[in-house]
Amino acid sequence: MVESKGISQLSLDQYRSRVRRIYDGPAGAVLKFGSFLSLHEPLVGHLLRSRRFDVSRFESILDVGSGAGQILGHLTRHASPTARLVAFDLSQQMLCRARSRVKDVRPQFVAGDMVQLPFASESFECITCGWVLEHLPDPRPGLAELERVLKPGGSILLLATEDTFYGAMVSRTWQCRTYNRRELSEACHEVGLPWKEQLWFTRAHQFFRMGGILAEAKKPDGNQPG
Ligand SMILES: C[S@@+](CC[C@H](N)C(=O)[O-])C[C@H]1O[C@@H](n2cnc3c(N)ncnc32)[C@H](O)[C@@H]1O
Repeated sequence: MVESKGISQLSLDQYRSRVRRIYDGPAGAVLKFGSFLSLHEPLVGHLLRSRRFDVSRFESILDVGSGAGQILGHLTRHASPTARLVAFDLSQQMLCRARSRVKDVRPQFVAGDMVQLPFASESFECITCGWVLEHLPDPRPGLAELERVLKPGGSILLLATEDTFYGAMVSRTWQCRTYNRRELSEACHEVGLPWKEQLWFTRAHQFFRMGGILAEAKKPDGNQPG
């Protein structure tokens, strides 16, 4: 894992204030434009619309690190109309931005840190977590919390910046880290979230190994053998 400015040395309080300083301020305000220009937001829409990650099968979805609602907006379009949707973020400002951008009455907006999720164990069938783990000093406590609140058999759509040249530029801009694909997969496996499948935005992304790390992780269903 590549680090930006000794991120793994930061205490919980230090990284929380760093995240809030970045995202509450002007950088957070322009994030929605960046996501659109980098095509991340439309590409996530393509992924969900094409049902390569089919969110319509879930009745409860938690979007961790909602930001300006880049993934949440797509969830409101492609999830079941009866699904419970929860947007979660450390930055109150980002939650306000998501609320004003996503014109749908369903999502509930909750502020907090993903390493201490304020939800009961096994309360969601699906979690989306896009470009958030990069900010944690260590991904494991955050991943362990995702595992805890996910129902057995539930799925996580995980998106993360990869340790490529492009990823290094992103990590500089957002003062975050990048991940090695294998190491992130191992960290997920360690907390009980083995990857079911690696995903790519398009065939071109797969061919050129671009677009960062996208994976569907699954919490094993206790009732299923093996
Ligand atoms: C790069 S943005 C990603 C936004 C959106 N998920 C997307 O797909 O574009 C990262 C977001 O994660 C939030 N975040 C960072 N660390 C967090 C944490 N520990 N708990 C909850 N949210 C966090 C930030 O406040 C920010 O809104």
